Amino acid sequence: MEHPAVEIDMGRNVDVGRIVQEAQSAIAAVSDLDALARLRNSLLGKGSALGMARSSLGKMAEDARRSLGAAIEGARKEIEQSVDQQRKVIEEKARILRIEADRLDLTEWTEAVASQRGHLQLVQRTRDELEDVFVGMGFDVVEGPEVETDWYNFEALNIPPAHPARGMWDTFYLRLGDPETVLLRTHTSPTQIHVMESGELPIYAVMPGRCYRRDTPDSRHLPAFHQIEGLVVDEGISFANLAGTIEDFTGAYFGSGMHSRLRPSYFPFTEPSAEFEVTCAICRGEGCRTCSHTGWIELGGCGMVHPAVFEAVGIDTERWSGFAFGFGIDRCAQMRYQIPDMRVLQENDYRWMRQI
Ligand code: PHE
Repeated sequence: MEHPAVEIDMGRNVDVGRIVQEAQSAIAAVSDLDALARLRNSLLGKGSALGMARSSLGKMAEDARRSLGAAIEGARKEIEQSVDQQRKVIEEKARILRIEADRLDLTEWTEAVASQRGHLQLVQRTRDELEDVFVGMGFDVVEGPEVETDWYNFEALNIPPAHPARGMWDTFYLRLGDPETVLLRTHTSPTQIHVMESGELPIYAVMPGRCYRRDTPDSRHLPAFHQIEGLVVDEGISFANLAGTIEDFTGAYFGSGMHSRLRPSYFPFTEPSAEFEVTCAICRGEGCRTCSHTGWIELGGCGMVHPAVFEAVGIDTERWSGFAFGFGIDRCAQMRYQIPDMRVLQENDYRWMRQI
């Protein structure tokens, strides 16, 4: 719009066009809303050039008043428009800044950061892996209680009170009920009893969990440790099925080239009983200090379910037979990761845990 330069009575030329231009460049330079509001007031208020021109209108001749009045009004509109426009520019900038600040920079999620993320503790991981292997072989996973009665932990497993075999498990008893009737389970075998009691046959189950023994901690023993128990009860189950299952498991978990062997042993709840050993992970069977130059490391116990155990849970031995095995999860982790001292598994030393 063309703005006339108008003579006003104070003897000054009011160059409306310049006022608008100057106002617009001042407006464009403002970058926050408060300052913009202040600038708007100073451009349009009483003390402003436009304001002063407006107050001089009254003293002007009709013609001049009309044309200057229109010019002032036009200028005011233009300035208001510029202010509005600038307000939008400022608000948009603020919005972009806000979004920018909220943005998650996922490109920072580099390997270095990812490797600092927490991970499951080694024993838990080992337990998960063992479960996976057995689930892959067709087993169900079942958990049992850590606090047991003497009946589940011993008697139903063919270990009557005062039986010398009780010496195999140094037991923590709880001060609950009659003395020495409630205890922390010394192995996962009592879970076999719970599973068989539930009555559903056949059974193909593994039972992992925490166990307790009054052992002094050393490089190969922890008073609170973990076992995984296996139980199969079906028609026509033989010792060959047991040996084959252990061998399949050994290859699946420890890898090819790793094998198992069974050696005669004794457990009250299995007959015959065996210890099972797997290829020494350190020398791969060559013979070394860790395996006392035998090439084998003992992992756990196993055997055919004793008829007295079937009797305790009311399973007909004419029709059903089965095998069971049990071994330490911590021991397994120790072997697989060649951990010299098992106590590190419970010390929670961050420097160690982050490596494993
Ligand atoms: N419960 C036995 C132990 O802790 C291991 C075992 C389980 C042996 C099942 C035979 C059968 O020593």
